[in-house]
Amino acid sequence: MSFLAVFLICLVVGYVLKAIWNNLKGAWHNSPPGPIFVPGLGSTLTFAMGGRDALKFPLLVIDDMAKKYGEVMRLTMGPQHTVFLSGLKSIKEFSSMEETTMRPYNETLLEMYSDGEPLGMGIGIGGERWKEQRRFSARALRDLGAGKKGMDAKILQEVVHTIEDIKDKVRGTQKLKKVDQYFDLPDLNVIWALVAGIRYEYDDPVAHKQFDYLRSFLQESTAGPLTATPMLKYIPPFSGIYQNIRKCMDEFRVLIKSVIRNQAETFDPEHIRGYIDKFLVEQKANRGKFFTDKDLIINCQDLFIAGSETASKTLSNCFLWMVLHPEVQDKIQEELDTVIGNSRHVIMDDRPNLPYTDAALMEVRRISTPFPITPPRTAPRDITIQGYNIPAGTPVQMNIYSVLRGEKYFDNPNEFKPERFLNAKKEIVVPEGFIPFGYGKRRCLGENLATVSNFMFFANLLQVFTFRALDPKHPPSTLPCGGLTYGPQPFDVSVSVRD
Ligand code: HEM
Repeated sequence: MSFLAVFLICLVVGYVLKAIWNNLKGAWHNSPPGPIFVPGLGSTLTFAMGGRDALKFPLLVIDDMAKKYGEVMRLTMGPQHTVFLSGLKSIKEFSSMEETTMRPYNETLLEMYSDGEPLGMGIGIGGERWKEQRRFSARALRDLGAGKKGMDAKILQEVVHTIEDIKDKVRGTQKLKKVDQYFDLPDLNVIWALVAGIRYEYDDPVAHKQFDYLRSFLQESTAGPLTATPMLKYIPPFSGIYQNIRKCMDEFRVLIKSVIRNQAETFDPEHIRGYIDKFLVEQKANRGKFFTDKDLIINCQDLFIAGSETASKTLSNCFLWMVLHPEVQDKIQEELDTVIGNSRHVIMDDRPNLPYTDAALMEVRRISTPFPITPPRTAPRDITIQGYNIPAGTPVQMNIYSVLRGEKYFDNPNEFKPERFLNAKKEIVVPEGFIPFGYGKRRCLGENLATVSNFMFFANLLQVFTFRALDPKHPPSTLPCGGLTYGPQPFDVSVSVRD
């Protein structure tokens, strides 16, 4: 071996040892445990070899790793350290701190989500902008009726469209195709009614195209690793995936921009149609600091994505589990028949009298959560979680899945059992570990709306239809499918109209 080769090897080994030493001594002193990492590459190889088809199911690999390394785990992808919190204690401790409402500046995520700028209330930001925009959005949605009494009447109109559409689709075939995507448009209509007062027909190609664009981002299983390891965007095949996501998200915003333009052109302060009008009122009155055109676009994008994706995936999951557990479906229908009958639709006032139906929906939310790992947050100062140091600026992600599927919080967590949410008197009980909407100050903004909307669709569709597996010997898979949000794998079902 030449002198130069020996010299180069020594240099590399020295660099690696120095990087490890700096990590142990520096800000990462007393750091959370995690898989061994090589400076520059991180634990990428350990992750890729994590079994379970690592790139297809990164969620499950992270959850397996957390079982090995503990509730506070450091995972280093490329040069980027990220901390994953699993278990209720660490999640509560972290999200109860005022300073952890920030999201880290993640260039790649922002490039994909908002053309590189930290805009809006959902993904990109924290601090003053988030506070102002979140407060405004929460108030605006509340004023527009989200989650309030009476909202169910509006949602019922959409449910009735869905019932008629399913009847049309299954006439003669008894088959409903692509249930994993079927609820995208009905749910978009629920949120879009609040945002702009508009609705799309279920066969509208423009609206369907929007979901195709979104899928290229949200259902892309490498989107998580791509944002955690920015250098991947320069390396094939990730570079192609990254470019495609950017192109699709640009296209996605074309429709949002045209909806906003249209609303601005027809704006009438005396007739507020929805969220966009309310934003325009603030903008025209020069209130606040962040009522900019660009923030409005990304806020609408946040509502489109957070509002339709998660709620629609929940509904698809509902019918997946109903097909897998026909005995649960029968029990729900028995309850609906006894309490409501078939001469009228189900409304929200019926909910307290339908505890089994409610419990089954909660069980779906628990076992198949659409947002199993929350988008990253960070603190602007060093913090300590469960005794471990986390340096300022480190991305922290909460593994909600670990709680919702954790043995510590739920008996036999992988079993589908609505009864776990009922006490001996058949009343609903909400266990501490039931956190599908996140926890703390940045928890989901649309919890009330999603609760009403999901319940209205679920109960009314089961009142009218029975859903069964097309081939009971080959039932659809329960393995989650996705990247940033998760839904069921593609599946069709057999549907019959009840007498
Ligand atoms: C079943 C349906 C839903 C589930 C399971 C769900 C769950 C979640 C979760 C886990 C988060 C992340 C919290 C965090 O970062 O700590 C979140 C954030 C968010 N959700 Fe939902 N969500 C649902 C429906 C909705 C709906 C209908 C809306 C629309 C109004 C909505 C709006 C938002 C927004 C705007 C955020 C970001 C909040 C922020 O960063 O301050 N979500 N949601």
